[in-house]
Amino acid sequence: MSRLTDLIARAKAKDRALGDELEREFKALASRRAFGLNFERHRPESVELPGRPIRRGDKVRILPPRGSTAKGDPRLWKVLRIDEDDGKRTAHVSLIDAAEPETADVATDNLVVVAEFRDYIYPGLVSTGKVERGGDKPYHTVINGENFHVLEALTYTHRGKVDAIYIDPPYNSGASDWKYNNNYVGDDDLYRHSKWLAFMERRLLVAKNLLKPSGALIVTIDEHEVRRLGLLLEQTLQGFTIQQVTIVNNPKGVTQGYLSRVEEYAFFCFGPECTIYSADDDLLTFRETKETEDGLSRPRWKGLLRSGDEAQRKDREQMFYPVWINPKSKKIIRAGEYLPLDKEPDFELRDEEGNTAVWPVRKDLSLGRWGVGVDTFNNLVKNGYVALGRYDKKRRSWGITYLTEQHRAEIEEGILSVLSCDPITGVADVAYAGAATRKVRTVWHRTSHDAGAYGTDLVGALLGNGRAFPFPKSLYAVEDALRVVVRGKPNAVVLDFFSGSGTTAHAVMRLNRQDGGRRQSICVTNNEVRATEQATLKKSGLRPGDAEWEQLGICDYITKPRIRAAITGKTPEGEDIDGDYKFTDEFPMTEGFEENAEFFTLTYETPVAVHHNLAFQRIAPLLWMRAGAEGSRIDALPDQGWAVAETYGLLVDLDRSAEFCDAVDACDGLRIAFIVTDDDRRFQSVARRLPDSVEPIRLYESYLSNFRFSMGR
Ligand SMILES: C[S@@+](CC[C@H](N)C(=O)[O-])C[C@H]1O[C@@H](n2cnc3c(N)ncnc32)[C@H](O)[C@@H]1O
Repeated sequence: MSRLTDLIARAKAKDRALGDELEREFKALASRRAFGLNFERHRPESVELPGRPIRRGDKVRILPPRGSTAKGDPRLWKVLRIDEDDGKRTAHVSLIDAAEPETADVATDNLVVVAEFRDYIYPGLVSTGKVERGGDKPYHTVINGENFHVLEALTYTHRGKVDAIYIDPPYNSGASDWKYNNNYVGDDDLYRHSKWLAFMERRLLVAKNLLKPSGALIVTIDEHEVRRLGLLLEQTLQGFTIQQVTIVNNPKGVTQGYLSRVEEYAFFCFGPECTIYSADDDLLTFRETKETEDGLSRPRWKGLLRSGDEAQRKDREQMFYPVWINPKSKKIIRAGEYLPLDKEPDFELRDEEGNTAVWPVRKDLSLGRWGVGVDTFNNLVKNGYVALGRYDKKRRSWGITYLTEQHRAEIEEGILSVLSCDPITGVADVAYAGAATRKVRTVWHRTSHDAGAYGTDLVGALLGNGRAFPFPKSLYAVEDALRVVVRGKPNAVVLDFFSGSGTTAHAVMRLNRQDGGRRQSICVTNNEVRATEQATLKKSGLRPGDAEWEQLGICDYITKPRIRAAITGKTPEGEDIDGDYKFTDEFPMTEGFEENAEFFTLTYETPVAVHHNLAFQRIAPLLWMRAGAEGSRIDALPDQGWAVAETYGLLVDLDRSAEFCDAVDACDGLRIAFIVTDDDRRFQSVARRLPDSVEPIRLYESYLSNFRFSMGR
């Protein structure tokens, strides 16, 4: 280190600026933690915004000519001026951070705007459609956009309001499955892991601000990044309890390395105040239950005759004893003393009341033994936990069943209930108390989690017509994961900011149907066209931003149509969806769901260029989302200076405050009043006149500045 300090001092002496810069880098390196996960932060991250008009001052990249499949020029240029000639716009651009100044004149059609994450952004939302079948239920929202920027926008609408985040990020498999700064990251990229970590960390840091303290974050991952992700989560989510779940999602297996891989993982990160719900199924073991006519689930009682290993009389001498029964009433009376090995059992034994003795006789007619000792047995009898079955002539014995130690523990915990006792035999009727009675395990092995059958094939059935999405999750696996954290929360808000085909929204709708909930999901995904299709589109002269290109992007081609299809029960072609939902709630897919959903695209505004009303339109959906994404929306500045919708109100003209406050008073269920003013005193005076149940929120008159974000700095 001292050698380095010395070298820096010498560099400073020669070239002050260079020396200072070296020193800064050195300090940054030296301040890194010695233990834990070390990686480059790769600042700044950036995103291209195809289709966004080019304006003076924008940062841009120069696109390769149409028809070319060449990699784009990664350099960034700044637009200094735009000249218009005969309807043709030409930008005069200069290279950013160039050693030698370089300028160029480029047709604006050949430029694409770039938003660096350290730049301020002014996000807006434009509605691109909706589906309404859910009456007054809140809307599921689907947002097409760069998730980092959408997360920033959500810090305005949902800070501390989200109950569960479920994400399935790109797994960084090395097969160009994701982009960093607009370039696919392949396995030849030396910074592959550190780019992925920087990408994930940036988003997790914003996302955790959205969670309630009682919330939970679930992240799925496979073997490529599981170890690094585990460390990253520990570092970024301090105060959370993190558990790793192994999910068998491909039971057929993929040969990888030496063994055949059948699983992936989910990290469950429970917030400090998170509560967990029991389930009907622990997702690993099978509980032997029998469904009965009354619809109750009863445990399967265990045979008292020991089977399998060590089942001979000689194996446990003291467990060979007579069980006294009344063959007429079928009442079990008690266990007699055990019979020492050197004595033969008497099969004709009877007492004066007509009770007979039952001995443990195996199928092969040899002498066996019972599964519990005399004392335990007599205790079980007292409680009614032993039942007499049928007489077996061949064995000269009776079937006897009992409640195991685990069942008894479940009775203690209230999981199993004793409903009644038979008045003659005294045998207890026990059933599982509620449906949800078991703790989910950390290894999941269920056919319903097969991503092929219940991910790829299911999405195929919903979309019909050969539309395919690479590797959607099994609908039922996502449903099971969410059930763990939102089962008892019928109004939960669930966010997925890597939503791909929209499985999370679909799973939330299923959960709602199962318990009449009003949960809502927020699904965010970009509109990437599949890597395999991009070359063909480029060769045919198309570019991102062109309508023909964008319509094949994930959000427009898969996510929105899938969610629409799930709700309506019809494929995008209008055909009834073929097939039934399975497992927890089985019904024809064509029934759809009684839910609402609205689709949006994230826009990037420049505050100077947007006039008042348009700027308001762009933020209107954000206000509506903040108020719960429920009921109608105030989409334009109201002519009368104020407006009220079901869940929120908007006051623009403060001279009309009295009318506004009266209208707010008259509305039930109104949660928020947005008050537009730059004057703090006037805001306070209106706020004081509002009912306590209504939260006053101030908006600046320059609407977009309410939503100015830059967290990637
Ligand atoms: C692995 S997929 C998720 C699949 C999803 N769980 C399902 O069942 O369909 C990840 C998705 O995240 C999207 N994505 C990747 N990077 C993104 C980003 N920076 N912003 C928004 N979406 C992104 C990709 O387009 C892809 O659709």
